Amino acid sequence: MVSRVIPVSAFDLVLFGATGDLARRKILPALFHRYEVGQMPEEARIIGSARTELTTEAFRAEVRQAIEEFTPDTPTRTEVLGRFLQKLDYVAVDALGEDGWQALAAMLRADAVRAFYLSVGPSLFAGIARQLESHGMATPEARIVVEKPFGRDLETARALNAGLRVCFEEHQIYRIDHYLGKETVQNLMALRFANSLFEPLWNATHIDHVQITVAESIGVEGREAYYDQSGAMRDMVQNHLVQLLCLTAMEPPSKFTPNAVRDEKVKVIEALDPVPPGDIARGQYRADEGGDGYLDHVGDPQSRTESFIALRVHVANWRWAGVPFYLRTGKKLRARVSEIVVQFRDPPHSIFPNVGPIHGNKLIIRLQPDEGITLRTTIKDPGPGGFRLAEVPLDMSFAEALGGDTRPQDAYERLVMDVIRGDQTLFMRGDEAEAAWAWVDPIIAEWERNRDRPYPYDQGSSGPEEALMLLHRDGRRWRQIGG
Ligand code: BG6
Repeated sequence: MVSRVIPVSAFDLVLFGATGDLARRKILPALFHRYEVGQMPEEARIIGSARTELTTEAFRAEVRQAIEEFTPDTPTRTEVLGRFLQKLDYVAVDALGEDGWQALAAMLRADAVRAFYLSVGPSLFAGIARQLESHGMATPEARIVVEKPFGRDLETARALNAGLRVCFEEHQIYRIDHYLGKETVQNLMALRFANSLFEPLWNATHIDHVQITVAESIGVEGREAYYDQSGAMRDMVQNHLVQLLCLTAMEPPSKFTPNAVRDEKVKVIEALDPVPPGDIARGQYRADEGGDGYLDHVGDPQSRTESFIALRVHVANWRWAGVPFYLRTGKKLRARVSEIVVQFRDPPHSIFPNVGPIHGNKLIIRLQPDEGITLRTTIKDPGPGGFRLAEVPLDMSFAEALGGDTRPQDAYERLVMDVIRGDQTLFMRGDEAEAAWAWVDPIIAEWERNRDRPYPYDQGSSGPEEALMLLHRDGRRWRQIGG
């Protein structure tokens, strides 16, 4: 199946923090790819902006370098890149001062979609929004895009929302959670709501438990200062894992519109029970012969920040009563894997003698790597030798099944185009971000009050023993990371 590319309208995208790491690694390569496949019209313009004084030529040279470093070489890349760079301009602005804003305003067209992408720290969000408004750029149709971290607790998230809403309406604000742009995450909605097979079974009567794993093999190197202030709970659970949980647990929205979808997600977050300390295992990767540990990386031998967390969570509503959702995420684990495992209940009665226990079906939704869906089913082991049962996967790799356009689309490609299209479905609404913090805050407050230390774990492992125990004591097991 070959993907269809529907070009978006002409736009002016102002990228604040245009020389920063995220812009170089993700946003500019994403825009380049969308141009390469013909989704970005010739009239589109990207205006880079940062504090550094740069000529447009120097900015284009930097972008050329970033694209060459972060996109795969293809026979057409050099030629397409040459044309793409012509769409780029640069203007230096002082986010908190007056310099540059008028020059920026003069560059924007009245008849193009207007988007401001704030790839900068949250402390600059409100200031930039104010400058945009006072220089007449925050028109009613303009869009503002912000990156995480969206606050570090409920109070700071509220302040960020308030700062943005002084100048922009909620329908203009796009809060990025890049997990929502991943292909399989959207597929989760298709799987649930475009198929009649699963939804009747999608509840406590048929599902034993759900596991959501986002495991990384990298450590915190390069982002030590930020990470040590955040930890896995703030960095990953409050946003990415909660979003995956919402899409798995939410009720079917009445329509596929941004607010209908987000209303249902907020209801899930609001239904989350508080998590008692006994249902949480925090970990920190230790040093080994191969290299330094977390404490060396952040340069603080006393740090109590977790590089791993596992939690047992309950969604307290009719559909999910009594069904645990086990979440885990961490750095320096044995593989880079993100997946959702829906474990169905065991068959209530076995008619087959001498075959041992028959396990319930397992639906595995793989976000990365190798996006796809696997349904583990029990069959008769073929051949002679008596009636034996075997568990086999019904496997669907998206890359194999859909073929055609083989390069997987990066989450940022979809999200940036959605901003231009004006589709907020895959962006967090303000109340959603706040609800997630309202659930997370007391959990963090509890371990901070007790000055809890995370459990050490080996690099390349599945996290600390205590995380395994969370399931063992319920008579369950984690699916092996990478297996
Ligand atoms: C980011 C976190 O939001 O997501 C990082 O801040 C993490 O710590 C990253 O590494 C993981 O994203 P992905 O797309 O590589 O799974």
